[in-house]
Amino acid sequence: MRNIIDIANDVLKHADIVEVIRTYLQVEKKGKNYVAICPFHDDSNPSLTISPEKQFFKCFVCGTGGNAITFVQKYEHISFTEAVKKVADIVGYHPEGLDDVAKSKPVDERRVSLLKCLQDLNLYYQFALNSEEGKAGLDYLESRHLNADLRAKYKLGYAYKDGKATINFLLKKGHSIKTIEDTGIARMITTGTYADMNEGRVTFPICDPDGNVVGFSARRLGNGDESKYMNTPETYLFHKTYNLYNFHIAKEVAKQKGYIYVCEGFMDVYALARIGIDSAVAIMGTALTKEHIALLRSLNVEIRLCLDGDLPGQRAMMKICNDFVRAGVNFRVVDNQGSSKDPDEILNEDGPEALNAYLNKLISRIDFALNYYMRSNPLTTVEEKKKLVREFIPILAKINSQLELDSYLRKLGKITEFEIESIRSLVNTYRRNENHEEALKVSMKDFHPERKVLQRLFTAERELLYQMMGNSAAVAFYEKNIGGFYDDVYREIANYIIAYNEKYQEVDPNGVMLLIENDNQSNKDELIEDFTNILDEDFHPKTCDADLLVNLLDTINSEKERINEEDALNDSLKGKDELEQARIIAEYNRRKALKK
Ligand code: UTP
Ligand code: MN
Repeated sequence: MRNIIDIANDVLKHADIVEVIRTYLQVEKKGKNYVAICPFHDDSNPSLTISPEKQFFKCFVCGTGGNAITFVQKYEHISFTEAVKKVADIVGYHPEGLDDVAKSKPVDERRVSLLKCLQDLNLYYQFALNSEEGKAGLDYLESRHLNADLRAKYKLGYAYKDGKATINFLLKKGHSIKTIEDTGIARMITTGTYADMNEGRVTFPICDPDGNVVGFSARRLGNGDESKYMNTPETYLFHKTYNLYNFHIAKEVAKQKGYIYVCEGFMDVYALARIGIDSAVAIMGTALTKEHIALLRSLNVEIRLCLDGDLPGQRAMMKICNDFVRAGVNFRVVDNQGSSKDPDEILNEDGPEALNAYLNKLISRIDFALNYYMRSNPLTTVEEKKKLVREFIPILAKINSQLELDSYLRKLGKITEFEIESIRSLVNTYRRNENHEEALKVSMKDFHPERKVLQRLFTAERELLYQMMGNSAAVAFYEKNIGGFYDDVYREIANYIIAYNEKYQEVDPNGVMLLIENDNQSNKDELIEDFTNILDEDFHPKTCDADLLVNLLDTINSEKERINEEDALNDSLKGKDELEQARIIAEYNRRKALKK
């Protein structure tokens, strides 16, 4: 038998490292090499260089480097042998002996015993669902329209209320207490005594991409005080960041159909299945991680993002869209138009045609983002508008169709009230310049007013934000009168406060903080830092009355007006000679003096 090193060399001779890395990352040609955003550290500029000549990659920031096999091994966290097999699959070259070596890879004993234990447990749950006690669970699933076929397909079950007996069942089946503990399903009652943490709930097994049960989610029956879903904690087998619910079923179907829907919860996956769409996965209430994205990307099909239409849902979608773009994923977004119904609710309340229509209303990332800004985040300050334009330039620059570009420019013009032709010229500048980032910086250089000039505005905004942290009336006042804070961080914090207030009809700073912490935005630390700093400040007025709010509003409005004027002034100075500039400034000052 050939040894694995010989086989690996053979595979490498038939592999092109650029092709291999391209299945994981978006790569761009640069001179005779290729570059990509490095996945091995928190990278924002492409620091990973790939040399087709040397068949080698190297990140000049974090130092990670190696050949195609090393890359796959590091990226997927798999063994050398597995990586050799993966690379062979990617390039479609299968040297003799590879299968034997791959098969004879050392068995992971721990993994095997955990899988066996979970499999036994799941059969027990499925059995229990059809027992007398399980009737309550069965009725619940029926009430959610999960008939026998669906229950079997997703291996749904019920966990007996007597959780100690469940553990005893597993012990009798020969699983050690250590194994049972390591599956994450046991809850310790007293030292040495355990109970099933899913007891009294319906169970949804969560599988790895090969269809092995690696964990569970369990739902309470109906409405109650206990948490709605209980999830297996992180274990040796179960990693929330790697697993997508239903991926094992969806992956094959997706390859046939050419698309996969990414939904919020289990019930959404079932709703899609009920109307015949089996290529759907759920992110199970967490953020979509880069590992999830890699998994989806590996299917090489269109990803259809289908998340809730409420404000946090929309914000999550914006973030995911950005991550998808960065990963070079092909995707569209289900246009939920701000509706807060999930697919399950649409199907039950409005019927199959409605759900079908909903799922097929797919829009591009750009349309989604433009709608998002139009709907949930009206832009008021010039600074905000410029920031938006800056975000869109690189996206627009990639659009080849003139008609399409025109339609986006019109929308962007409408939102920002900027001249369509000025935006177009920025797009062209961006396209012409070799160094894109530099081009943007230069053409937008004058866009950033000095922070010092904004001091009065920021002080007033900070004051109002402080009041909003403990007072629903202040929140309502902000929503009604202020189109959004000028300061980005304040505005984002305000959005969280609004979301919290909407949900609970009150504002509790600790609750808001949890909301921020549980979200997955890139500037989380900054948000938390500002939030806690402001909350700690003891110089703010203790009573928040109408006088205070109106005063703050006045300051904010007059400061914004002043800044807008100065922006306009700066714009009109651009490209003029000094004499002309002096004339414009004098005229500006004269008009200002007249106003007073
Ligand atoms: P949702 O609250 O939107 O659940 O959370 P849902 O799918 O509509 O559930 P039903 O219709 O009330 O039964 C979406 C996903 O977030 C996770 C679950 O994976 C759920 O499917 N989640 C939600 C939890 O893990 N724990 C919870 O307490 C709630
Ligand atoms: Mn639901």
